[in-house]
Amino acid sequence: LGSPLEKHVALIGFMGAGKSTVGAEVAKRIGRRFVDLDREIEAALNTSIASYFVEAGEEAFRKREAAATVSVLRDPRPAVLALGGGAVASGAVRDELARRAVTVLLDVDPEVAWERSQGGDRPLARQRGAFFALYDQREPVYRNAAEVVARDADDAVLAAGGTWFGAGLLERLGELVPGDGAVALVMDPQVAGIHGADAQLALGARLAAAHELPAGETAKTVAASERLWSALSLDRGGTIVALGGGCTTDPAGFVAATYMRGIPWVAVPTTLIGQVDAAIGGKTGIDLPRAKNHVGAFHWPVRTVIDPALLQTLPERERKAGMAEVVKTGLLAGEPLWELPEPELVRRCAAFKTAVCLRDPHEHGERRMLNLGHTFAHALEAAGGYELSHGEAVALGLLAALRLSGLSTDVVEEVLAPQPVRVSLERAWAALRLDKKFAAGRPRLVLLEEPGRPVVDVELPDDAIRAELDRLIAK
Ligand SMILES: NC(=O)c1ccc[n+]([C@@H]2O[C@H](COP(=O)([O-])OP(=O)(O)OC[C@H]3O[C@@H](n4cnc5c(N)ncnc54)[C@H](O)[C@@H]3O)[C@@H](O)[C@H]2O)c1
Repeated sequence: LGSPLEKHVALIGFMGAGKSTVGAEVAKRIGRRFVDLDREIEAALNTSIASYFVEAGEEAFRKREAAATVSVLRDPRPAVLALGGGAVASGAVRDELARRAVTVLLDVDPEVAWERSQGGDRPLARQRGAFFALYDQREPVYRNAAEVVARDADDAVLAAGGTWFGAGLLERLGELVPGDGAVALVMDPQVAGIHGADAQLALGARLAAAHELPAGETAKTVAASERLWSALSLDRGGTIVALGGGCTTDPAGFVAATYMRGIPWVAVPTTLIGQVDAAIGGKTGIDLPRAKNHVGAFHWPVRTVIDPALLQTLPERERKAGMAEVVKTGLLAGEPLWELPEPELVRRCAAFKTAVCLRDPHEHGERRMLNLGHTFAHALEAAGGYELSHGEAVALGLLAALRLSGLSTDVVEEVLAPQPVRVSLERAWAALRLDKKFAAGRPRLVLLEEPGRPVVDVELPDDAIRAELDRLIAK
């Protein structure tokens, strides 16, 4: 089915939609080359498109445009492409798009497009009536060729990661699971009772079987994985669809990564943590008794379906836990994302994490920034026998990270109001030193130079780290 990691992101849309501007921004954010087809073609023609139109006519130009677009799409190194406004009129271009790209329609109001395009040297933007008529003619062609419609760079970044975002998407799950093979639906037991019937209905005839995992972290065990491996009836053409929070998407993704040496999976996160964090970025895994997430795989979902309407049934405690990751994301992004209303907050946070993970899918470097506060959080969770919620632990961890960064902790206090926890300092310190992200026993932390400027792999003296850990513990 093709991982989004291996596909181009192709921006299509009418002239004046902002494909060049948004394309350049998306490429920078996800760490890929940007190819602006109009500029490539002008370089190849050695003249401007406007002059070529006059010299050779539109038909000759369309042929050159289609050939150049197909050739760029066939380059296996995934890039961000801005296609010329007429390129999708070519069947050959549409075929290559379907095979090799996530095709994103950059939506624009025709009035805005006209304002932006008129008066320049665009040959088809000289006369208002003709411009609007062309818009009406092209619009259905774009909609047909596009898999997703984007309003801005965040939408396009999400699409680049294979993430579809929108209220009500659960109802369209059947068509959103790529391919046409059988589907095994893997669910959180509680979510199964709330949204399971809708998911099954949406999957229709593709649904081969529905499976429920045990509740909470017990789903992330070797025993639960073994039961699921054994229960699956899929062959390699099948797809696992995971419906639930991180305790469902983590193990379901891991089982997908390992079943028959790897089959595709689709994540449908139903918690705030899932929608802004756990279901994004391809990290899957299960726990061992000695450490959380100790066994796993990088296995990027072929699609992630984020339906913010599913959060309406989420208990308040879980929402609060998710807000800790939202605050972390806002601190990393340098923007008060926690102040946004919920659907927008989810969209922006999900896009931020998607971009970081696309830049570093296997966590060789900057993706480690996402561990801001988590070294402390994991230590407190381990020392507390995992009774402490992950959200509370992350909130405390953020306090420590901000203090060690010499920054104000106000936002964490105001939005998350974390309370010190009653755990043993010695146990927490031992757990912190065991954290798998430590190189050769030396604690390496993520700190902030300032909000929006994370620094990874910071080494500090043990005393300083231990003192901050101690401040998180109730006396
Ligand atoms: N893979 C990653 O990159 C990554 C990132 C962050 C966290 N995680 C993992 O995620 C896990 C935590 O995930 P979580 O916080 O989503 O917990 P969770 O999956 O246990 O869900 C929390 C609770 O909410 C309930 N629930 C879920 N959706 C609901 C809904 N829509 N309505 C009503 N109830 C609902 C569940 O039944 C459960 O009781 C941890 O194991 C953590 O390690 C993974």
